[in-house]
Amino acid sequence: MLTGHHNINYVRRAGLLLALLLGAVPFTRFKYRVPLQAVEVVPRIWPREAEVLGVVCRHLREVPPCLADLGGGSVHGYRAGRVLGHSGSAGRVGEDLMCLFASFFVRTASVPVAELPPRPEDWPPDGDTQGFLDWLVRFTEQRVHRPNRDRFGALFDAVGVPEDAMARFSARYRCRTARPFRLLHTDVHRANAVVRGKRLAVIDWELAILGDPLHDLATHLVRMAYGKEEQGRMVDLWAEAMADAGFIDLTAGLHEDLPVYVAFEYAQSVFPDVMRAALDLPEDARTEHFRTAADQVERAVRRAREPLRLVDVPDREQVVDALRAWHSTAR
Ligand SMILES: Nc1ncnc2c1ncn2[C@@H]1O[C@H](COP(=O)(O)OP(=O)(O)O)[C@@H](O)[C@H]1O
Ligand SMILES: [Mg+2]
Repeated sequence: MLTGHHNINYVRRAGLLLALLLGAVPFTRFKYRVPLQAVEVVPRIWPREAEVLGVVCRHLREVPPCLADLGGGSVHGYRAGRVLGHSGSAGRVGEDLMCLFASFFVRTASVPVAELPPRPEDWPPDGDTQGFLDWLVRFTEQRVHRPNRDRFGALFDAVGVPEDAMARFSARYRCRTARPFRLLHTDVHRANAVVRGKRLAVIDWELAILGDPLHDLATHLVRMAYGKEEQGRMVDLWAEAMADAGFIDLTAGLHEDLPVYVAFEYAQSVFPDVMRAALDLPEDARTEHFRTAADQVERAVRRAREPLRLVDVPDREQVVDALRAWHSTAR
């Protein structure tokens, strides 16, 4: 059983009959994926992962397909291999793997947009990168921050994240250059990367969207927790690979606009990070639990400080007190 943030995954070997039913090779492994009831923190524009996977698997043959979509849960192929790490793990990634990621982004950008499922009606028009960023900011504000103010507002305030946090972000950061929209995975981190030999398969496509490829690169850079040197190298490899594939227009304004999406990633993640730290506190939380949670909150707030222009950043004791207060009332 493998548990991520959004699903519980049961890995099993298919017997003869089940394999026949699924159209899979007998006795190979498959994954039964059941969504968890989690707080909504990231956009899902295509609620059925199977729909996206249908398109993705035609073009990225290494991605495990959805074998059956049962509504409540779904059955996926299981790719044998080594998962690069758990989410948030650090350590050097190395040139070879970074080249594989660069090539993965090129292949994802090559998926024909016309084959993708329809977008929501308010989706920004192709190339409108600022409209795309506005959509993401609106989502964070209207679907993540606002609805959780009732339950977490006092905690947000106490750890220095004010009501107008996202407005402060918008006032400061803008995309300056147009780039064509492509399929994006948006969650390319170590726990979603399965390596076998010289091949990399990226799993977990439920958060895929259509948009500015720099957003995919930015979430990748932040969530992989690259060191400074590797981060710079990854940007160069990405740009070279895109240019070599004839996608030079996807790299337009790279050095000016990439920091905008990196800032957005730090800004938006302060909400899930603070909420998860609080929600993970057990009912009988003790000092060490509050310390661990405070570490997570402090890190998130530190990273969002610049993008959200946070001025009243509390010290450690204040964060612990805020978590204790939340725990004794809101929980
Ligand atoms: N095909 C696979 N091969 C190896 N490990 C896998 C595979 N599928 C899932 N896992 C492991 O299970 C974890 C959760 O699966 P994932 O599909 O990413 O679900 P979630 O949506 O919950 O993140 C992954 O991070 C990985 O460690
Ligand atoms: Mg995952």
